[in-house]
Amino acid sequence: MSQVVDMGVRIGRLVLKNPVMTASGTFGFGVEYEGLMDVGALGAIVTKGISLEPRLGNPAPRIAETPAGLLNAVGLQNPGLEGFVEDKLPWLRRAGPAVVVNILGDRVEDYASLARQLDALDGVDALEVNISCPNVAAGGIAFGSDPSAAAEISAAVVENTTRPVLVKLSPNVTDLVAIAKAVAAQRVDGLTLINTLRGMAIDPHTGEARLGNGIGGLSGPAIRPVAVRAIYEVHQEVDLPIVGCGGLMTALDAVEFLRAGASAVQVGSATFRRPDAASEVLSGLRAFCQEQQLDACSLLTGAVSVRGVKGDPRKEAQDA
Ligand SMILES: Cc1cc2nc3c(=O)[nH]c(=O)nc-3n(C[C@H](O)[C@H](O)[C@H](O)COP(=O)(O)O)c2cc1C
Repeated sequence: MSQVVDMGVRIGRLVLKNPVMTASGTFGFGVEYEGLMDVGALGAIVTKGISLEPRLGNPAPRIAETPAGLLNAVGLQNPGLEGFVEDKLPWLRRAGPAVVVNILGDRVEDYASLARQLDALDGVDALEVNISCPNVAAGGIAFGSDPSAAAEISAAVVENTTRPVLVKLSPNVTDLVAIAKAVAAQRVDGLTLINTLRGMAIDPHTGEARLGNGIGGLSGPAIRPVAVRAIYEVHQEVDLPIVGCGGLMTALDAVEFLRAGASAVQVGSATFRRPDAASEVLSGLRAFCQEQQLDACSLLTGAVSVRGVKGDPRKEAQDA
């Protein structure tokens, strides 16, 4: 008989039956995958980003393939809060996994209002705050690239909800640890690392940008080492649970994220290649823990050794 592994994890106040979640925007609202996999087995479903009002998104084309990843400029198309609550939340409530609603806005007040309205609803287990959006009041600079703006949004959400709060950070910054520390000081429950990296592709023959929007976000295997580094660095410096995301394709990639310091993982673009990727990651992760004779999957979190580096690994890596 195979060994029973405790797959449960805790991300602050958010308790999940296992550490496998879907990444926002890559799994619709879950219902689309019913029949393709056992959606109910997942630890959590993270919804597509929800704004106060519906958004139509960017001009086509919105997706372009690159050698080791995907460029997207969907532009945060979504049905808005009301549409989400009426059409999407009823199914999610019954689905089984924890429901994490990803929220976005143009102003701090938008985030506060979304947090307040979602707090009044049954079936919302946690919020994930996308701070990679342009701050209209600050001339369009992304909230996530400034520690004080990132902290302000995090505080506004925490003050307006009783639910656990994850803040999703952008890797498009010089000092991710500084942003993580500023957010961690706001009593959030965890950090999701990372969102997409800014990228662009151009057709060499026509000279036309491959995305209607020109610039987009790069996801997929190309960004996995960036995600692993981000998780590792933040885990070394910030005492807060981390949800790892970015280029995870297999169960062994999930193990890599956990070892770097994540407490849970999100499966994103992998779902576009294999619709049941999240399911495969979950069963593969359980099998890995059994092979390694681990009693609990959470034992993998932070289990990494960095050979040959004494003292502060970050500093010496920079000095090299
Ligand atoms: C088509 C698409 C739409 C996305 N939409 C959102 C979104 O609405 N909110 C958000 O926080 N992240 C969004 N993301 C980012 C993903 O959740 C994830 O952070 C990123 O794709 C990196 O993970 P991956 O390489 O596993 O896909 C989106 C990504 C893609 C590819």
